[in-house]
Amino acid sequence: MEFFVDTANLDQIRKAMDLGVLDGVTTNPSLMAKEGIRGNDAVMEHYLNIAKMVGQNVSAEVIATDYEGMIREGQVLAALHPAIVVKVPMTRDGIRAIHTFHSEGIRTNCTLVFSAGQALLAAKAGATYLSPFIGRLDDLNMDGLELIAQIVQIYRTQGFTTKILAASIRSSLHIVRCAEVGADVVTCPLSAMEGLFYHPLTDKGLAQFLEDHARNNA
Ligand code: G3P
Repeated sequence: MEFFVDTANLDQIRKAMDLGVLDGVTTNPSLMAKEGIRGNDAVMEHYLNIAKMVGQNVSAEVIATDYEGMIREGQVLAALHPAIVVKVPMTRDGIRAIHTFHSEGIRTNCTLVFSAGQALLAAKAGATYLSPFIGRLDDLNMDGLELIAQIVQIYRTQGFTTKILAASIRSSLHIVRCAEVGADVVTCPLSAMEGLFYHPLTDKGLAQFLEDHARNNA
């Protein structure tokens, strides 16, 4: 399973890279706004900086909602850097755009996916990645992980090659459960990734080892 960090913050991306297990980055317009990146030139420059820094799998989202606009924006984004993956919302025009990008060899990430039916459409259109938002489903008392498991089963049964990129991850446990049910990728906040390191018995055990070593070598 690949690990992506879900942020547009360069410092957080650097920290995630320093963990030594990072495979990519996802962003969205809300995350760009959080960093105060505004205006087309600044947005493009920021995507380019992230792509140069990470060198692989950087999802950059189109803002247009019509087919022609998505194609225009997506082609500009894809031309920025080979690491860019064009993120396209799960709409009628989005699915049509994904189909066109697929035929042009442009990698896509179909975002805002909340059902197995939507996952089926995105795979049929040739999406490279599919982003089901599990945390937002959990927020509505629906089971986000169950959706991931259902999509894994459908894609395996049908032989689809679209990668399942579990998004809207809220905790380290979400990451582990996504691995269990067979997600190809998780994109998560740095804090959820860092939470995987922690176990009190690891800390306790290491302290004991160091104490015994010090006593033995005093
Ligand atoms: O990658 C999608 C993600 O950014 C959505 O996360 O926490 O806003 O539901 P969240």
